[in-house]
Amino acid sequence: MAQLLDGKRFSKKILEEIKERCEKENLKPGLAVILVGNDPASSVYVRMKEKKCKELGFVSKGYKLDCETTEEELASLIKQLNNDPEIDGILLQLPLPPHLDSKRMLELISPEKDVDGFHPVNAGKLLTGQSAFVPCTPRGIVELLKEYSIELEGKNVVIIGRSNIVGKPLAILMLNENSTVTICHSRTKNLKNVCSKADILVAAIGKPYFVSGDFVKEGAIVVDVGVNRVDSVESGERLFGKGSEKVEKIKEKGYVLVGDVNFEEAYLKASYITPVPGGVGPLTIAMLMKNTLESHLKRVKK
Ligand code: GUN
Repeated sequence: MAQLLDGKRFSKKILEEIKERCEKENLKPGLAVILVGNDPASSVYVRMKEKKCKELGFVSKGYKLDCETTEEELASLIKQLNNDPEIDGILLQLPLPPHLDSKRMLELISPEKDVDGFHPVNAGKLLTGQSAFVPCTPRGIVELLKEYSIELEGKNVVIIGRSNIVGKPLAILMLNENSTVTICHSRTKNLKNVCSKADILVAAIGKPYFVSGDFVKEGAIVVDVGVNRVDSVESGERLFGKGSEKVEKIKEKGYVLVGDVNFEEAYLKASYITPVPGGVGPLTIAMLMKNTLESHLKRVKK
């Protein structure tokens, strides 16, 4: 049976350290968060980021733009924030509405304020081993594993998912830790077989309960990046079984949030596992705050 990797507790510790340092050294980092449109999940994430900023005493500027915002309007706001002396980090919440070109918009953010680490300059620096802003979720995963003294050197790490936000940058970070890395995706052959060889298995696919127990090697470490909303009783019954606690929750609340991993099955085989919620999610925000503080420190040259 597995030990839980408690991302919630660890993120609290990181945030307390940030707050203490800012108070002691009288630092006031600033984060601007831009949300275009009204995607409900994105709205929740943006609100959480703004709330954390306030708790830490950061300058927090939120911009909610309507669905019809043009590339020119968004570009103009980004340029304004690039020149705003109170702002150390600019976060453009993804996904953007389909008429906006995410790659082009992200490239407008000054690499010095790109606390998400999505700008090609920062992605390129990470790839070539130069100091750069590292995307928050992958950074959080590596820091969480280190917090639990989990050795990464020489380990077989299998990552399911090849996104620019999680899969690809995480693969580079793990390589830097001397792990042997495999990235899998929707076209991978014999996926279950590849995963079952992993010492560390990371699921970042966005499919509820996709990773069943037979993907997991006995004693493996399982990191679940997924946050999936299941809101139909029918899907719930198929995924979790009729009459299960989660199906009852869907009936009661209208939805349930679950990871990409079938937790109950994986828990029985893994040595360590991240829960959903309370695993990787809180760390993403903690790393965003850490990147913003680091950006501020670089700017004020402390
Ligand atoms: N959408 C989902 N995850 C993220 C993230 O880490 N940063 C931004 N900007 N958008 C996201």
